[in-house]
Amino acid sequence: MDDKFDDEYQASADWLMSKTSCRPTVGIVCGSGLGGLAKILEERQIFKYADIPNFPQSTVQGHAGQLVFGTLKGKACVCMQGRFHLYEGYPVQKVAFPMRVFKLMGVETVIMTNAAGSLNQDYKVGDVMIIKDHINMPGFAAVNPLVGPNNDRFGVRFPCMSDAYDRELRKLAHEVVAELDFGDFVHEGVYCLIGGPSFETIAECRMIRQLGADALGMSTVHEVIAVRHAGMRCLAMSLISNRAVMDYESEAKANHEEVLETGCQRTAQLEQLVSTLVGRLELCHNKSL
Ligand code: HPA
Repeated sequence: MDDKFDDEYQASADWLMSKTSCRPTVGIVCGSGLGGLAKILEERQIFKYADIPNFPQSTVQGHAGQLVFGTLKGKACVCMQGRFHLYEGYPVQKVAFPMRVFKLMGVETVIMTNAAGSLNQDYKVGDVMIIKDHINMPGFAAVNPLVGPNNDRFGVRFPCMSDAYDRELRKLAHEVVAELDFGDFVHEGVYCLIGGPSFETIAECRMIRQLGADALGMSTVHEVIAVRHAGMRCLAMSLISNRAVMDYESEAKANHEEVLETGCQRTAQLEQLVSTLVGRLELCHNKSL
């Protein structure tokens, strides 16, 4: 094994475990404008990324850049308030780095959120999409966190991705959505990762739609790959922050401010959805674990 980050994962996990007595089994990753999710944790303990050995720094507006430990519905959780993206210039292994630290700390389930542009014409701004599958556009050019020598400590050389988004967790999410009466604004669909930071052209949006994606964004997929490689299960949800521009007559222009604003408006419902889900996790067992 010759993974150049190998010592770094352990050093980050050891440092964190020496600073907190919290032993999280649930990891939560907050997307752009969705950092408020971390505030619903109780008995919070906060560590700035800048203080955690080997952790990258969050450079994006709308991402606080800290790891928050605490309990949610009685369960020990760790929450990333701010994540890392390819477009910030990080190597893809650094983008996925925190997922391996999660694993070493004992996390079993990761819940991710992101902001995404919709390609599906039935989706409205403010809707939520439970991700059922992804297209790793940079992955076609071998931009994948598992490129390089396989780190056997975490998982196998060629991990399966046809079950990336846990079926049982998605089923549970739909049950919670029905219970909370959120059905009017929640969908299930396919997320496409683009590298960014420029938003897509109209031709690119049309192509990606034809390939089968319902929404697109600049995050999540590489974290999911690392999570699945390491045998954790995951659930991911996109908040539709804008509609991708698909039409040459349209005057609309994608922009980051709109992305952050929509996050703020739907925060309360998304928080309720995530916290109810976390409270039910033990009802949902994954046979593949
Ligand atoms: N494109 C790419 N990434 C995004 C978008 C978008 O329209 N909205 C939020 N993240």
